[in-house]
Amino acid sequence: MSKLWGGRFTKETNKLVEEFTASISFDQILALEDIEGSLAHVQMLGECAIVPLPDVLLIKKGLYEIKEQILKGEIEYSVADEDIHMNIEKRLIQLIGPVGGKLHTGRSRNDQVATDMHLYLKKKVIQFVEQLEKVQYAILSQAKQNIDTIIPGYTHLQRAQPISFAHHLMAYFWMFERDKERLLESLSRIDWSPLGAGALAGTTFPINRQRTAELLGFQSVYPNSMDAVSDRDFILEFLSNASILMTHISRLSEELVIWSSQEFQFVELDDSFCTGSSIMPQKKNPDVPELLRAKTGRVYGNLMGLLTVLKGLPLAYNKDMQEDKEGMFDTVETLEGTLSLLAPMIETMVVKKASMEKAVKQDFSNATDLADYLVKKGLAFREAHEIIGKIVLFAIKENKYLLDIDLSEYKQFHQMFDENIYDVLSPKNVVAARESFGGTSPNQVRNQIALAEKELNKVHEMSSK
Ligand code: ARG
Repeated sequence: MSKLWGGRFTKETNKLVEEFTASISFDQILALEDIEGSLAHVQMLGECAIVPLPDVLLIKKGLYEIKEQILKGEIEYSVADEDIHMNIEKRLIQLIGPVGGKLHTGRSRNDQVATDMHLYLKKKVIQFVEQLEKVQYAILSQAKQNIDTIIPGYTHLQRAQPISFAHHLMAYFWMFERDKERLLESLSRIDWSPLGAGALAGTTFPINRQRTAELLGFQSVYPNSMDAVSDRDFILEFLSNASILMTHISRLSEELVIWSSQEFQFVELDDSFCTGSSIMPQKKNPDVPELLRAKTGRVYGNLMGLLTVLKGLPLAYNKDMQEDKEGMFDTVETLEGTLSLLAPMIETMVVKKASMEKAVKQDFSNATDLADYLVKKGLAFREAHEIIGKIVLFAIKENKYLLDIDLSEYKQFHQMFDENIYDVLSPKNVVAARESFGGTSPNQVRNQIALAEKELNKVHEMSSK
């Protein structure tokens, strides 16, 4: 059988052109969605008396048979048939004869491909929300075990104030919570049916677009056929949400790389998540977080790619739009791999409490508390800041930390210093004193974890048809 659109042509397609324009090598991922869309379409054609019922039954039977073949991996796609839509249609006609040609009544590949992608992305977005939840549970379980574990908190990667390790981890919990929210919110824009928009202007057949939308589980129907076939906002939005998510994963990965270094020794990643060096026998490299950090690049790239493809395109469908797929599939695949590694990597990470404790003792991250101490005794904060700055300078010169300075020495800087400063300065008390809402005190962290658990227990309204 020659090309499905061959009627108007007198020459064969140039082989190079055929290969260059074909999308079957990548859009075969959409095979099941394509069948799903066709089943709904032909059912509606039957209900609207556009295609006789016996033909509808035959077409459906054929489509189910092709679905079986796809699931068994028995189907062979051909580049000559360009894309998944024509490969399946051709197969159908081969299987049930010319009646298969009635399937394409009242639709075009333009609304067909858009329908496939809406169906596909809807499923994937729901899957990512579920995968993200697993990552959140992993964070939560480490956090619960480390409420009283103290590490230096950093700003500018300089030690700033001591914090609970759980508090640090939970910051990522909330980032992923927002990522989930963004994905869930985007569903309302993915959940639109373009089917029945035709090539661009609608169709002369008395179709029922609401019915196909209902059969496919879409919440709404695009009210403008031109918008329906040329809208790729839902893909852009997904790529953008994926990019923000990967930014979070990349930041967390960077921290894991730093924390597992010889210099920090805050955590040890499980052997099963690291690799060795071919030359240096002592090495245990954090390859997984390094790669997660790097994969962020391609996810950003896919967003930039599609934004650039769409920029300046006139309405309605243009072949340019075929370029929306590979980037989207690549981002989906990258997220699938990334999220499934992240949860077990966090779960199996060993937290080295002793080296964290040691680190906290060897720094000036309790200096703010010394300033606050004077403020609570009546000094203005600026004045206190100046005095403590001088004390820190003195300590550095003497090779001491704040807890090592004698009270008599403190008194030379200000008479208000008292014996109880040593209590105030102990890292445990420094952390416990940060009782403001959202602060790092164990009480506040426990509250935060309770809030987080409440969020996780909320049932999301996801239409996962
Ligand atoms: N393979 C095409 C794509 O992915 C399907 C739509 C083709 N439509 C057309 N009029 N050539 O965009």
